[in-house]
Amino acid sequence: LDDLLFFYQGIPYPAPVCSAETFQALEIFEARRDDMVVVSYPKSGANWLIQLLNDLVFTTSQTKHENVELPFIECGDPEKYQRMKQFPSPRILATHLHYDKLPKSIFKNKAKILVLFRNPKDTAASFFHFHNNTPDVPHYNSWDQFFSAFMNGKVSWGSYFDQAVAWNRHLEDENVMIITYEDLKENLASGVKQIAEFFGFSPTAEQIQSIAERGSFQAMRERSQEIYGSVGATLFRKGAVGDWKNLFTEAQSQEMDAKFKECLGGTKLEAHLKYDVYCK
Ligand code: A3P
Repeated sequence: LDDLLFFYQGIPYPAPVCSAETFQALEIFEARRDDMVVVSYPKSGANWLIQLLNDLVFTTSQTKHENVELPFIECGDPEKYQRMKQFPSPRILATHLHYDKLPKSIFKNKAKILVLFRNPKDTAASFFHFHNNTPDVPHYNSWDQFFSAFMNGKVSWGSYFDQAVAWNRHLEDENVMIITYEDLKENLASGVKQIAEFFGFSPTAEQIQSIAERGSFQAMRERSQEIYGSVGATLFRKGAVGDWKNLFTEAQSQEMDAKFKECLGGTKLEAHLKYDVYCK
């Protein structure tokens, strides 16, 4: 298991896609004012959001970007930032990095940041299945083993709770907007509209409707091979809210409630996540 994790500044990352060379090169990455940045903890629905943004850019400007790089900025080879300089604007960038580890130029150049969160129970459940369904990532022998690693932040990209606590302090910053997986599930068209407004796009009602239709779990799963190749199948597992109930024991559920309360009880992020609705 440890062979597949690589540590950088104390945080574990998946060794096959992350390296010290790439992290070092990332320090001098230059973000642009019109970059569209998606920040999320793993398994919160980032690929969904990236797809919606691609569709939004394409629908409103007819520019189809060749997505030749992994959209996650910290993944891949260190030369990728040179190649990304050639990309036309607006570039869609994604990352799972902790707030403190984001490239400083994102803030300096005032790129807009869309922060995506998903309730921690479904996030953990999805993360567990991802590990066990995907080649070249660590496999866990049991859900119990993964749950304890997740609770202790000993999983790729570190602790959900650390990331959530950090973002909770910055939700009202300029150029930051938060959206949740659960909000998107509840009303995708309304989510697309809010996202479009935030990034300064003006799609028509019909355009919003068709982006939402193409962004449904069913529609995306059907196109998964075309969009993502062979990994497509593992990215679209269930796409539901509340699937955690199939994995968590009552004791684990209570343990997470206590941890969440300790870290985020009474916060704005707790209200955004509607913890009591989706995690009980
Ligand atoms: P599940 O494992 O619960 O199914 P990420 O892209 O950040 O890795 O997140 C992956 C999760 O988002 C998976 O959750 C996946 O099924 C879900 N997902 C992807 N596309 C989706 C869509 N269009 N609608 C709902 N959920 C989606």
